Amino acid sequence: SKLSPALKTSVSGARTFAASAAEGGGRKVAVLGAAGGIGQSLSMLMKMNSMVDEVSLYDIAGTPGVAADISHINTTAIAKGYMGDEQLHDALSGCDLVIIPAGVPRKPGMTRDDLFKINAGIVAGLVKACAKACPNALINMISNPVNSTVPIAAEVLKKEGVYDKKKLLGVTTLDVVRAKTFYAAKAGVQVEKVDVPVIGGHAGITILPLFSQATPSAPLSDEDIDALTIRTQNGGTEVVEAKDGKGSATLSMAYAGAMMGDACLQGLAGKKDIVECSYVESPVVPGIPYFATKVVLGPEGVAEIREIGRMTDYEQSWFEKMQPELKASIDKGVAFVNETM
Ligand code: NAD
Ligand code: LMR
Repeated sequence: SKLSPALKTSVSGARTFAASAAEGGGRKVAVLGAAGGIGQSLSMLMKMNSMVDEVSLYDIAGTPGVAADISHINTTAIAKGYMGDEQLHDALSGCDLVIIPAGVPRKPGMTRDDLFKINAGIVAGLVKACAKACPNALINMISNPVNSTVPIAAEVLKKEGVYDKKKLLGVTTLDVVRAKTFYAAKAGVQVEKVDVPVIGGHAGITILPLFSQATPSAPLSDEDIDALTIRTQNGGTEVVEAKDGKGSATLSMAYAGAMMGDACLQGLAGKKDIVECSYVESPVVPGIPYFATKVVLGPEGVAEIREIGRMTDYEQSWFEKMQPELKASIDKGVAFVNETM
């Protein structure tokens, strides 16, 4: 879960040539929702990734400007803007990775599920276009409610006859990023050295950081663990409230999305030991078809899904508590596609 040398050297500006195909370069990545709060920064970070040759910036409006702006950055990847339905297919053709942060964000007082009404249809339409234009691409789903948008995407891909569970990944990286940050501060350890698995889904109590498995380990009290757990579960709401009606996390999300995208590209390139937590179709919890645990990324996408590992009684109680909500969100996504498409 470290930045790849490709991203690191690009960020520092030291590297001016794209990685060769042998090093995992030459990739085309699309960002759908590229003119939005997340999409702009995420598109920029993908332009700075030396495994990427071309970044497609797609949105319903605004992408010519964002693409012109980003295209002046002196890294090798080409940035191109695409706008509107008629340009969607070209934006997606030939893509290895499609990252989707399209849709509306929360305002104070809303749950992520309140976004379902608008975002379900947006995501379904975009994924249908992916099925036609780049059926082999990996899809990283950021649009909320992730607990439902991933099952929606899966059902759409099934209807189009191209579903491959190894290639559809719900992005829960921001929960991991937050858990690491909050844990490091409390434990007094260097944040860059911290690893914390976060399992479940991506909404409220379905987000479960396993601080008992955190490394380096630290002797935190039960009260500290409880506070860290609840803060991680409410991390999104903390930002929504601080932004006070002007949207939700965008910059930390772009960072997290770039980490996840980079990990997927490293996996595609055949690099070993690329592990991230992600919300995927999973056999880990019977009766809950989609679940986030650590997954190993490989040349086909998800190469291995890791088990949850040992949980404390405290973690186990959250694990039991989240299951009905997660199951309901999954069922709602599946029903949406079956009833409307
Ligand atoms: P935003 O409103 O700033 O940007 C969203 C963009 O999507 C806009 O530019 C809009 O034009 C575009 N869009 C809408 N319909 C589209 C369509 N059919 N095709 C292409 N683009 C379309 O919102 P944001 O802050 O960037 O958040 C985007 C989504 O990401 C929200 O649903 C938010 O809840 C979610 N999010 C998820 C996580 C996570 O951890 N998974 C974190 C933060 C935000
Ligand atoms: C987040 O976790 O920041 C996102 O899911 C956005 C939100 O609505 O909280």
